[in-house]
Parts: sequence; C-alpha cells; structure tokens
Amino acid sequence: METSAIAFLCLLCIHGAAAITAGTQDGMQLWGYATPRPKVNIFWWWYRSPNRVSSVVKPWPTILWLQGGPGGSASGRGNFLEIGPLDLNMNPRNFTWLSVADIIFVDSPVGVGFSYADDPSALVKTDSQTVVDLVGVIKVLLKKLSTLKSSPLFLVGESYGGKIAAMVGVSLSRAIRNGTIINLKLGGVVIGDGWISPEDYALSYAQLLHDVSRLNDNAVGDVNKMAVTVREQVAAGQFATAQKTWTNQLDLIDSRSDSVNMDNFLLDTGMNPVLANWQSMTSSQLMCRNSQQSQSAPNNIDDVINRVIKPMLKIIPKKIVWEEATLQVYENLANDFMKPAINEVDKLLADGVNVTVYNGQLDVICPTVGVEAWVNKLKWFGLSKFLSLPRQPLHYCDSAIYCSKQIRAFVRSYKNFTFYWILQAGHMQVPVDQPYPALRMIASATLSPGN
Ligand SMILES: *[C@@H]1O[C@H](CO)[C@@H](O)[C@H](O)[C@H]1NC(C)=O
Ligand SMILES: *[C@@H]1O[C@H](CO)[C@@H](O)[C@H](O)[C@H]1NC(C)=O
Ligand SMILES: *[C@@H]1O[C@H](CO)[C@@H](O)[C@H](O)[C@H]1NC(C)=O
Ligand SMILES: *[C@@H]1O[C@H](CO)[C@@H](O)[C@H](O)[C@H]1NC(C)=O
Repeated sequence: METSAIAFLCLLCIHGAAAITAGTQDGMQLWGYATPRPKVNIFWWWYRSPNRVSSVVKPWPTILWLQGGPGGSASGRGNFLEIGPLDLNMNPRNFTWLSVADIIFVDSPVGVGFSYADDPSALVKTDSQTVVDLVGVIKVLLKKLSTLKSSPLFLVGESYGGKIAAMVGVSLSRAIRNGTIINLKLGGVVIGDGWISPEDYALSYAQLLHDVSRLNDNAVGDVNKMAVTVREQVAAGQFATAQKTWTNQLDLIDSRSDSVNMDNFLLDTGMNPVLANWQSMTSSQLMCRNSQQSQSAPNNIDDVINRVIKPMLKIIPKKIVWEEATLQVYENLANDFMKPAINEVDKLLADGVNVTVYNGQLDVICPTVGVEAWVNKLKWFGLSKFLSLPRQPLHYCDSAIYCSKQIRAFVRSYKNFTFYWILQAGHMQVPVDQPYPALRMIASATLSPGN
C-alpha cells in the first residue's frame, strides 16, 4: 500500500459488540479489534500476499507475528521495521515476508501498541492470560479472514514473542486436537532469538562477551556469579527476584564492557540495556532517523506510527498513543518473565508440531550459545540424532541477483525440529541485518509455494 492509496481506504466498519474491522478497498488488508474477554481490545492487522497462489498440495501459509518485550508492538516494529511491505519511510521493503506468506500482526498482550484495556485491571499479569487472549483472537480471526481455513498458520515470535509463540502453539494444537477449534491447521511454530530459557542466557553472557573481546577479563567471575544467583532464584521459583538479579547483571555488564549493545556485540549502547532494544536506537533505526531528519520528515517510529499510521487506520481511539515499548506491560509480567518455556517446546515436538528456531550470531541477550544450551535440555526423542547431524551451510546462491559465495547461515534439521544459525545478525534484527537469508529461511520454514 503506497501512501497515495491511503486516500482510497474503505471502511467496512462492523460495529458489533465484539469487534470493529476496517480494511483497504482492494481487500488486500484488513485490521481491527478483537475482544477475547471483557475490557480487552486486541489490535490485529492482516495483509494478503500479492503473490498468493494455492494448491491443495502446497497451501499458502499465514504468519502470525508476535513481538517481544513483553511490551513491544508487532503492528509497528515487526511491520515497519522488520518484515512488513513498507518501511518507516513508506517505501517498499525489498524482502518483505509478505512475498511468501500472508501476515497477521497482533499487538499482544493487551496494552501494547494499538491494543488497549478499558480498565488497567484487565492488563495481563501472567503469560498464560496472554495465551488465552491470543487463542481468543485467533478464534475471531477465523471468522474474519476467509483465507485462514485453508492456510496453515505459523506462529512466529521474536524474543519474548518466541516464548509466547511456543505457548500459544501448545494451546492451539491441543484445542485443534480436542475439537475446540475447527477449520484451522497449525503449520508450525517459529522462534526467533526467543526468550526460552533466561537462566541459560544469563549463564552465557560472561564467556561469550569475553571471548569476543568485549568484556573485561577480570569481570567474568563477577558477571558469572550473578548468573549463578539467577539460576538459584529461578530454581527456587523466585522469578521476580531473579528478574531483578538479571537486570543487575545487565547493568554490571554495561559498566564492565563500556556499554556493549546487548542486541549486537559489535555495537555499543549508552542506554540501560534492559530496554536497550527500544529506548536506544538500533542501527536500522539510526539509519532511518538520519535519512529522515535530513528530509525533515518524521524522525522516529513513535512519531510515524502516531502521525501517519494511526489516522490512516481510522478505527484507533484518539486517546491511544502508540509507543514502541509499553513499560507497564513489561512490569506487570514480573512474576513470569524469568520462567523458561523449554517444556512448551517439548510439548510441541511431542504433539508433532513443526518447530523452527532461528538465532542471530551477534545476539547477546538471547545468545545462540544459550539457545543451544536449552535445546540440549529437550526431552524430545530426536535430540541426540539431531545433535549428531552435520550442519548445512547456506549461501543462498540460487537467485541470479542475490547470489553470494559467502556462507550466510547454517541449518540443521531432523524430523520436526529445525535450527537456523543466521550469521551477521543481531537480536530482533535477523530480518533487518540479513533480509534475504531471513526471507529464504521463513519461506522454507513455512513450506511456502512462493519460495
Ligand atoms: C532495494 O532494492 C533496490 C534494487 O535492487 C536497491 O537499489 C535498493 O538499495 C534496495 N533497498 C534497500 C533498502 O536495500
Ligand atoms: C481443549 O483444549 C484446550 C487447550 O488445551 C483447553 O483449554 C480446553 O479446555 C479443552 N477442551 C476440552 C473440551 O477438552
Ligand atoms: C513439517 O515439516 C515437514 C518438512 O520439513 C513437512 O513434510 C511436514 O508435513 C510438516 N508437518 C506438519 C504437521 O506440518
Ligand atoms: C512430526 O512428529 C510427528 C509426531 O511425533 C510424527 O508423526 C511425524 O512423522 C513428524 N514429522 C516428521 C517430518 O518427522
């Protein structure tokens, strides 16, 4: 959708008790609010792929994208900074994931992005409430989106969204099996730089950062000591306390590394690392910011979303101010933030759901070495076989234009589990730092006929 098309917006407002929906006249986009429980208004935004083809053998996939945080907005960040059809300057994105799948961005949990609660008491305090709400949203979407019945749904979550994707996947697969949800095929779960095992990550930081010359050698012991405390507190079920220790560990790393960027160990940040993803500018945002400032155009994502996108969508209540990170939502989940979700991944594999994990090589906050550590803890029957297999280097060299001799990624796959090591990419930045490999990866993971 070009900016010029905005004028042709057609509102199909269905002012029911439960939901408001709007869309573009050409039927390529629909968005709206779903109300999975009273006082909870969850914003979703669906895009139909312009490349959509479908066959019974190879059905066209739909991606449901979940942002991290908790507190980050899919409709803003995932859409305009990572995988959607337009970038923040409203220019087409070269390697939008829309070329291989339909995409639904959902602002979850309630309170994030354009989603809102009528009353603060309706905000979630547990991940399981987030999951119940999302399953409710998916039920609404099954009614709104005629394509969804015949389109396998892939839950794709980044960072904290990866944890939620795994949990929603378990709930959906069981609801499909017991007949509570019909007419839906769960295609798989994709976990990108996912927050699956906080203690494994905390235990990885010191060695990783020291090995890449980023942490003072005499700080390794102190940083590790805090990781051990995190592990003990997690084991004792003291999750909120563990989160505080982890935050202190990040502060210590910040001071003893002269502010390494926890999203990418090749970069610096001067900001509090806990919310570094949002409060400081990532490299892509910085680039955006610079180019935009020179044109005296909107200079940050909050401004673009509130000034350009919000009025265009028509249905967003005036009082809602979009922000890239909603701190209240993050703070409300303090008792669940440090809870691992390794068991959820195991449940998915036991249920026969396809699971794809991808991780950026330069990620620190959810480091690949920590992801490998939790993968090693899976009870999945295929694990030892999986670990014994070689990795396949991916050059992504079969396109005339984007042929590269360089290895861009590695992949290893066994039965229902696939792991992509994406080189030269940071946290929440895989589609940004490596757009073409990321697109090929997701096309493959979703078995897209557009691959
Ligand atoms: C998109 O592709 C065009 C044509 O290959 C290229 O000129 C342009 O720089 C690319 N844009 C980005 C943001 O990479
Ligand atoms: C079906 O599974 C869902 C998800 O696990 C669960 O919430 C629901 O209670 C189950 N319903 C029945 C009838 O078993
Ligand atoms: C899982 O992925 C494999 C290909 O990797 C595919 O053959 C299989 O059909 C998928 N299973 C499900 C349940 O979608
Ligand atoms: C996925 O898991 C299910 C259940 O364990 C199994 O029947 C199926 O063969 C697996 N798929 C692949 C591609 O191994």
